[in-house]
Amino acid sequence: MTRGRVGVLISGSGTNLQALIDASREATFPAEIAVVVSDRSAALGLERARLAGIPAVFHGARSFAGDRDAYDAALAGLLHEHGVEWVALAGFLRLVGSALLDAFPWRVLNIHPALLPSFPGLHAQEQALAAGVRITGATVHLVDRGCDTGPIVLQGAVPVLPGDDGPALSARILRLEHQLYPRALRWAVEGRIQVVDGTVVVTPPPGEDLTLGVVAG
Ligand code: GRF
Repeated sequence: MTRGRVGVLISGSGTNLQALIDASREATFPAEIAVVVSDRSAALGLERARLAGIPAVFHGARSFAGDRDAYDAALAGLLHEHGVEWVALAGFLRLVGSALLDAFPWRVLNIHPALLPSFPGLHAQEQALAAGVRITGATVHLVDRGCDTGPIVLQGAVPVLPGDDGPALSARILRLEHQLYPRALRWAVEGRIQVVDGTVVVTPPPGEDLTLGVVAG
């Protein structure tokens, strides 16, 4: 089996990265993680990658003096050097721009801790708590030029429970994210996510759905 080569971009702890690493260790998983890139040198996810024997690269913004396009162009070059075909954002705290998106057209995935289009941007879990919603969740989507606006691929839901605070809700959502992201990545590299005239068409394999239901607890 030829496996799709994926670059994972992180900024922090990398628990989603870990879920992707764990999935990719399964013989039948059709993707391998070719490189992990962080914009923060201290990101724990870089250590996770090294422990898994995956090239781990710190790509800091400082030397680009605020030139976002130059940063993204260099990042695209780095990913191409590692033979990357798909890019998975996993807690990457930078907006990615045209220089990267044009290098991987409709091949950049993101995971967001809310049911988009509700609660885009930072602190989605706190936004959900403040809004008083009873159900929230996580979304895997293709990345476009907006902030968390791209076509939705897969969503799952979790309840907001009485007494929840940000960390409790975030932890519940993260457990869901770890189920969603490997599944969406598998669909991506299997060619199950197509964009036709700007409309995303996702064809899940038999027995799999475009949603995960409310996961209690
Ligand atoms: C996740 O909640 C993800 O949805 C968001 O950033 C967080 C990253 O967490 N984009 P981790 O670094 O994968 O643990």
